Amino acid sequence: HIMKEFSGISSLEIELAQYLGIQNCIIVPGNADESEWVKSELGKMCAEKLTEVVKPKQTISVTGGTTIASVVDALPEKLKDMELTFVPARGGIGTDLKYQANSLCEMMAKKTAGDYMVLYVPDQVTQELYYSFINDTSIREVLMKIKSADIVIHGIGDAMVMAKRRKTSESEMEILKQEQVVAEAFGYYFDENGNEVNKVSTIGLQLEDLKHIPHILAVAGGASKAKAIKAYMKIAPKNTILVTDESAAKLILKG
Ligand code: G3H
Repeated sequence: HIMKEFSGISSLEIELAQYLGIQNCIIVPGNADESEWVKSELGKMCAEKLTEVVKPKQTISVTGGTTIASVVDALPEKLKDMELTFVPARGGIGTDLKYQANSLCEMMAKKTAGDYMVLYVPDQVTQELYYSFINDTSIREVLMKIKSADIVIHGIGDAMVMAKRRKTSESEMEILKQEQVVAEAFGYYFDENGNEVNKVSTIGLQLEDLKHIPHILAVAGGASKAKAIKAYMKIAPKNTILVTDESAAKLILKG
């Protein structure tokens, strides 16, 4: 950490945490948009923080995305004796299977010789389907586990990038544009003031569940995500720890 002090990153971390009104920020040098290496560093820092806070037999809920995928690779051997359980925070989205929460959970469990549960439901459903899904016993069991997780690890995405990745319909895209969404997290969209936009019934972790979760690790970097991070942090629980990169941090602080 001597390097961090030398480069001024330590003071940037404190400044950013204060600015965003959250517990703690961890900043890695560089810009994840420009280099895969920076994304790996985000994963490493998140895995380190996780190792610091996790206790044996705990449950960890994770979301999808390429950033969370970088956490998988960085999980240390040390976690192997901890009997951890990984649960997906959400169902699948219309995206690459490799980056779905379900897949990442399975990989994290394998890496740490732990357990995992899956949630094979669409990310967004109609009201009718929602009730039939949540009344299913096996789905309910996973949902209970998600709600009672000890730790959440989640990504934050640029709203329009995520909407495209989800193959959102033209008409819904139009609504999102009109509402000027900038951020996406847990399948929710937010405008720059952190207001939830275009509320839909989603199965999995609900925003209000976060209030009861002791440790929340948000991992997102790259200059292109600065706006999204800033917007989501307006409503993020205060106990959130943000792992980000220097490019995003500096842009956020510029206002
Ligand atoms: O919710 C946000 C997304 O999971 C972020 O995905 O890490 O691939 O940018 P990404």
